[in-house]
Amino acid sequence: MSKSLAIINCSQLVTLSGPNRPRIGAEMSELSIIANGGLIARDSVIEKIGTNDEIKALIDMNCTVIDAGRRVVLPGFVDAHTHPVFAGTRVDEFEERSRGISYQDIAARGGGIQSTVNKTRAASFDDLLNAGKRYASWFLRGGTTTVEAKSGYGLSLDDEVKLLRAIRKLDEQTPLRYVPTFLGAHSIPSEYRSRRNDYVSLVIDEMLPTVGREKLAEYCDVFCEEKVFTKDEAWRILSAARCHGLGLRMHADQLSLSGGAKLAAELGTVTADHLEHTDDEGIAALKSANVQPILLPGSVYALGSSRYPAARAMIDAGLAVILATDFNPGSSPTPSMAMALSLAVTHLKVTPAEAITAATINAAYSLNRGDRIGSLDKGKVADFVIHDCDDYREITYFFGIQHAWKVFSGGSEVYSANAS
Ligand code: NIG
Ligand code: FE
Repeated sequence: MSKSLAIINCSQLVTLSGPNRPRIGAEMSELSIIANGGLIARDSVIEKIGTNDEIKALIDMNCTVIDAGRRVVLPGFVDAHTHPVFAGTRVDEFEERSRGISYQDIAARGGGIQSTVNKTRAASFDDLLNAGKRYASWFLRGGTTTVEAKSGYGLSLDDEVKLLRAIRKLDEQTPLRYVPTFLGAHSIPSEYRSRRNDYVSLVIDEMLPTVGREKLAEYCDVFCEEKVFTKDEAWRILSAARCHGLGLRMHADQLSLSGGAKLAAELGTVTADHLEHTDDEGIAALKSANVQPILLPGSVYALGSSRYPAARAMIDAGLAVILATDFNPGSSPTPSMAMALSLAVTHLKVTPAEAITAATINAAYSLNRGDRIGSLDKGKVADFVIHDCDDYREITYFFGIQHAWKVFSGGSEVYSANAS
C-alpha cells in the first residue's frame, strides 16, 4: 500500500505556484500563499495542496499526520551555486584576511583556490566523501534540499573525475539532491602557470570528453576573470562543453568588470553568476539572451567587501534572478540559504518575497528541474520545509538563527530540530 503524509495547521503554505517558467519582474513577489494551509504527499510526490480543512477531510488511517503548529511551510531551498566537495579548510587564510591581507594577494602567492586544490588532491575518495556528508547535513538542516555542486578543486583529469564521482556518491548516499557541474576551469593549477595554454587544452581535449562520455556532469562552469580565465579562454572552453552536451554556467564579473556578463549573453549560457561588477550594458545583454543571474551575497560579505551586485536593477530589467550561497572554503564558507536571503534583503534591496522566489522556483528552472521542484504543486516532488515562524518574512529578518524545524526530501523527514 502506498504511504501518505499530511501536513496540517500551517500558518502559511507558501506554494510558489504560478506559470511553468522562471518568474520575472513583479511575478517575483507573487508567492501564492495559502493561509491556514496544508498538503498531502503520497510516496514521494505532492498529491494535494489546500486549506487546512480541505486537507483534513482527506486524511485516512494510512496517513501519517504532522501538525505544523501554525508554522510556515516552504518548498525546500534550491541552492543553485555551490562548491561543496573539498578537503580541509582555509581558516589560516581567513585569519590572515582579518589582519588585512586580501583574498587576491593570498591567491597570487599560491594560496587561495590552489591551497584547497593541494589538500583535495592529497585526500582519499573516502575522506572527501566524509567531508561532503558533513556539509550535506548542514545544507539539509538549513532547509536546502537540492544543490548545484561544482568540481574545481582537482584541476587534473583524475582529480576532477574523483570530485565528480564523489558528488554522484553524495547524491546516492545522502537525502540531499545534487546537480553536478564540471568546473575544471576554476584556476590554472600551479604546475601549468607558465604554460596556461596547455591547461586550457587539457580541459578541452581530455577533461571535457571524459566528463561528457561518462555523464559525470550536467553543466560546465568557467571562472572568467582577467587574471584567471580570459574571455577568449572561457569562450573556447564553454563552446567545447556545449558540444559534449553540457549546459553552460559562468562565474562572471566577480572581482572586476571583465565582460563576463556580455560573454555569457553571447554564448547563451543558462546562468551568469556573481555579477558584482556588472554594469547596465551587461544587465541589458543578459536580458536580451534570457540568461539567469545568480547572485551570491555570502561571498561579498565573507570577503569583507561592500560591492554587492545590482539586484534591484536586474529585477527591474525583467531578469529571473536567483540567490545562492556559493558555499566554498575560501570566499563563502556558509551553506545557509537563510543567511544569503538575509544579506540579499539588507544589502541588495530585494524584498523578502523576491528573495524566496529567487531561492526556490527560479533556482529550480536554472537547473532544468522547474517541472519537478521549487514549488509546492500537485505532481511535484515532496521536498518541503516547516520553518519555525508564522510569517515567511521572518526567515529573512531574524538572522544567525536556525529557522528550519522539519525538513522533508521526497516525502521523507530528513531533519528535525529538537525545539518544540
Ligand atoms: O565562487 N570565484 C571563484 N570561485 C569561488 C571561490 C573559491 C575559493 O576561494 O575556493 C567563488 O567565489
Ligand atoms: Fe562560486
